[in-house]
Order: sequence, then C-alpha cells, then structure tokens
Amino acid sequence: MKGLILSGGRGTRLRPITYTGAKQLVPVANKPVLFYAIEALAAAGIHEIGIIVGDTAAEVRRAVGDGSRWGVQISYIPQETPAGLAHAVHVARPFLADDPFIMYLGDNLIRDSLTPLVESFRREPADAWILLSRVPHPEQFGVAVFDEQGRVQRLIEKPAVPPSDYALVGVYLFSPAIHQAVAAIRPSPRGELEITDAIQWLIDTGRSVRPQVITGWWKDTGKKDDMLEANRIILDDLVADVAGTVEGACELAGRISLAPTAIIRNSTVRGPVIIGEGAVIEDAYIGPYTAIGDRVVVRQSEIEHSIVLDGAQILDIGGRLEDSLIGRDVLVRRGQSKPHSFKLMLGDHSQIELI
Ligand code: G1P
Repeated sequence: MKGLILSGGRGTRLRPITYTGAKQLVPVANKPVLFYAIEALAAAGIHEIGIIVGDTAAEVRRAVGDGSRWGVQISYIPQETPAGLAHAVHVARPFLADDPFIMYLGDNLIRDSLTPLVESFRREPADAWILLSRVPHPEQFGVAVFDEQGRVQRLIEKPAVPPSDYALVGVYLFSPAIHQAVAAIRPSPRGELEITDAIQWLIDTGRSVRPQVITGWWKDTGKKDDMLEANRIILDDLVADVAGTVEGACELAGRISLAPTAIIRNSTVRGPVIIGEGAVIEDAYIGPYTAIGDRVVVRQSEIEHSIVLDGAQILDIGGRLEDSLIGRDVLVRRGQSKPHSFKLMLGDHSQIELI
C-alpha cells in the first residue's frame, strides 16, 4: 500500500503567509502541518509516499527531503495546476500504479492514529474507505448522506444547504478502481476534478464505498483561526522540557518546551508554550497556547494564543498580541519617531486589527 499526500494548492485563505511559503509548511506547535501527515503514514507502516507539489515544490522538497528521517521513501509528483483532488490522483497514476493507497490532504490534522484504519482496509479491502466527522459548518466541506442501512448514498461538495453534518475528512483509502472513476468524471462548477465526484461515481456504479466516522478531533488548517485551534490542540499534549536557559527573575508555569539554545530572561511564561532554537524572550510575557519559532525575539512585549514563525521580532510593544499568526522575519515594534502614529508596511492581503 502506498501513501499520497497532497501539498500543491495555493493556500489563498492564508495569505499573505502563503505568498512566500506553502501552507502545508506553516508550523503548528513548531512543526510543519505536512510533517504530521508523513509521521501518521510512517506510523501506519506506509513506506512509499508520493507528495503532490505545485508552485511551492522547491520549498516542500527542501523541508521534507528524501523521507529517510521518517524511515520512508518520498517521491515528488508535480501538478502543473491545482485542478482538484481527483486531478492529483490522475497525475499520481504512474507513481501509484495498481496499488491500493491512502490519500492524505497535507493541510489536514487528525488526532486518531491511522494504523487501525489501514489494518482494517488491508483485511477487508473496499474500493474506497472514507472518513467522516460531524462538524458545525458542513457547507465548508464535502458532505455525506446515508441511506436507511447506513450506507453512503450521496456525496456533495460544499453544498449551500447541507443535507447532513457529516463532513468528509481529508483522508481517503482507495483501491485502483478510483482511477476508472477519475477518468469518468468531469470538472465541477468550480472547475476542479473533485474527489467527491469520483467517489460518487464508485457508489453509482455499485462499487464498495465504506464510511468510517471518526470521533477524535480533526482540523482542516486552511485559515488563520484553524491554525490557531490546531496549535492549541497539539500544545494540549505538549511534553514539558525546559532544556534552554532561564535567567533573571522569571516565572514559569504550566508545560513549557524550551529548546536547548533558547533563552528566557526576566519574563513570565505560562504554558502550554513551545519555544524554538535560538529564541530570546526578554522582559516579556508569553501566555498559554503560543508557539514561538526558531530565532524569534520577544522583548518588552506580551503575546498569547498565537503562532510566531522563525526569525520574527516583537519588540517593545508594551501591549499584548493575541490570536495572531506572525510570519517569518516579521518585525513588530513600538515606533520611536514622531508623530506617534501607527506606521505599517503590510504585504498584500495582510490583516491587522488595531484597538
Ligand atoms: C477538500 C475536499 C472536501 C473535504 C475537505 C477536507 O476541500 O474537497 O470534500 O471535506 O478537503 O479538508 P478543500 O479544502 O480542498 O476545499
């Protein structure tokens, strides 16, 4: 059985962060979202993994490498245009050959281990096993409708009026029959070859499509608030490890992971908080559910419930940042010059909320 991880896509809902980087590489608890997918597949005994890459291919390759660090073998499969999930299966056909495979959307995070699922699929093969989760806003997802016997009857991609609250999770197991389905479908109104339509084709032609409802958390990390929620959920399981330096008058509470070369000086840090290599926290407050990347400097400032990417600096702001996603090498500081006003240099599609 092979693995197929989708890491193309443009990540428009995470702009401007995604102008300079892949959305699948935005870190959650200081680890790229994509790495969680690779780890989950490796843990389920899947060693041959294809990653679909688009415009951000070079960056994804640089971050992931050949997979040896996870004991897997990674192949990169370029997708010229992000023309849909079923299109990704189509371009992956030479890699997949006629093997069954598990497809994992690289921006999804799932708590439940995939191992039992993969084992069940190996024992009782079907043409598709789909994962479903009950969600409050099904209109944002593919939605499943069951018949009286509990079989999947219909799948509808992002219906305006959802007929159920069972959303399709971004993990699918397929037999090679999916390739026939992909060849048979046509682009949807949004111009994409939808995997949902391909699975519907399997249902309509009498193939076996099994649903599996998951109850553990699941997150599609397409937007800032989803990233923050995923960060919160992962940090809830953080193992405390203060390997770095703590000096001066500090107050540390809760679970904190401090990288060996990071420094906390004269500051209050309330976990769960993770702080990366070379970061410096000085005369600052870091509140719960914050992930601070490598080489970040937080000085004379407060921050809570946020993700700060590598190399960013938050200096002398006095007030507190919350619910923020701060990109690589961003500088946020209190201005020194008059007039005493907000002075901004923001990339396209940046969002700031001032008080
Ligand atoms: C895709 C699928 C959708 C599924 C979702 C899960 O949507 O088309 O059926 O529910 O992933 O994350 P996308 O996020 O690509 O719009």
